[in-house]
Amino acid sequence: MIYADNAATTKMSEAAVNIMSSLIRDTYGNPSSLYSFGQKAKEVLEQAREEIAGLIGAEPREIIFTSGGSEADNQAIISAARLGAKKGKKHIVSSAFEHHAVLHTLNKLSKEGFEITLLDVHENGIIKPEEVASAIREDTCLVTIMYANNEIGTVQDIKSIGEICREKGVLFHTDAVQAVGHLKINVKEQNIDMLSASAHKFHGPKGVGFLYARKGILLTNLIEGGAQEKGRRAGTENVPGIAAMAEALKEAVADIDKNTARLIPVRDRIIAGLNEIPHSALNGDAGSRLPSNINFCFEGIEGESLLLLLDDKGIAASSGSACTSGSLDPSHVLLAIGRVHDVAHGSLRLSIGEDITDEEADYIINSVKEVVEYLRGFSPVWRDLVAGKTQFIL
Ligand SMILES: Cc1ncc(COP(=O)(O)O)c(C=O)c1O
Repeated sequence: MIYADNAATTKMSEAAVNIMSSLIRDTYGNPSSLYSFGQKAKEVLEQAREEIAGLIGAEPREIIFTSGGSEADNQAIISAARLGAKKGKKHIVSSAFEHHAVLHTLNKLSKEGFEITLLDVHENGIIKPEEVASAIREDTCLVTIMYANNEIGTVQDIKSIGEICREKGVLFHTDAVQAVGHLKINVKEQNIDMLSASAHKFHGPKGVGFLYARKGILLTNLIEGGAQEKGRRAGTENVPGIAAMAEALKEAVADIDKNTARLIPVRDRIIAGLNEIPHSALNGDAGSRLPSNINFCFEGIEGESLLLLLDDKGIAASSGSACTSGSLDPSHVLLAIGRVHDVAHGSLRLSIGEDITDEEADYIINSVKEVVEYLRGFSPVWRDLVAGKTQFIL
């Protein structure tokens, strides 16, 4: 099988699996226990915190372990909202194509009287920093903009956005779930106040992640209970998962240059190959995108059928359309970049892994070409397009 759905999740690295299984077996003490067996687990936990902090330019006390990216997003946004509300600031700036962990949290806050401005992401999926600047008001308490989009892979100018927020004295959070371990990140140099990350997107385990929160930012505790994480997140820590996350991140960061150099030519080879399909279009900016991301729309077909037929050919990919998410609406990301419903329904996301070979890339190109042609062969939508009854958009 060719696994081309690394934006959904990644295979754990061997080193992360080894650390995790050895800790599960041997170091099962509770890090809050005072005897030495518990303190051994505590040491592992604190070493992981130190390593992760070092890898993103933060201090250990600025790292809070969570159950993943969604929890980190929720905690960052709710914390900033609570801090803002105390000062009468109830306006938040974000974008239309954020992950639902962000959008649904903002929606909840809007029901509590917060006003949310969702910035346009334009046709290329890039937010203009100057538009962030003009959206900030006197009563803005937070700007939350994702680092890299999970569907179309576009990467934002986080440093400039952070600088604008600093100048205007507004907290800046970035959902960096798709970026951590894949792009070089330094929270201090990039003016980031809060950042969310998730281990399973960089070859670590599922159900574990972290929130970076600059020191001095008072976090709202989403989970009440014990005093773990300095009272900022209750619950016995997932020590094996956290240590495996640190190991996976260490490897990922060490390999960023090598992986980028490997992935970009393969990504661009696939993009060039798929561009040969008539009435197709790449979604998102061609240059400012994750090295692993390829996202296309093909007119006249349904993304689900494409996925199932690619699965038959041994390719695991994803689509931003309907049934995968159990709703009839196409991806909010594709709609945000201006794709109309019919076109957005025929989308395909390939998120390639670092170990992909040129032969596999060619096999993907040929398979997608074949399947798109086959599906168009009996698509009534395509028939109408070809007959001129409806207009081609792409
Ligand atoms: C951009 C982005 N944010 C947040 C999340 C949620 O992360 P998790 O699955 O760890 O809760 C994801 C996962 O798909 C994501 O891609």
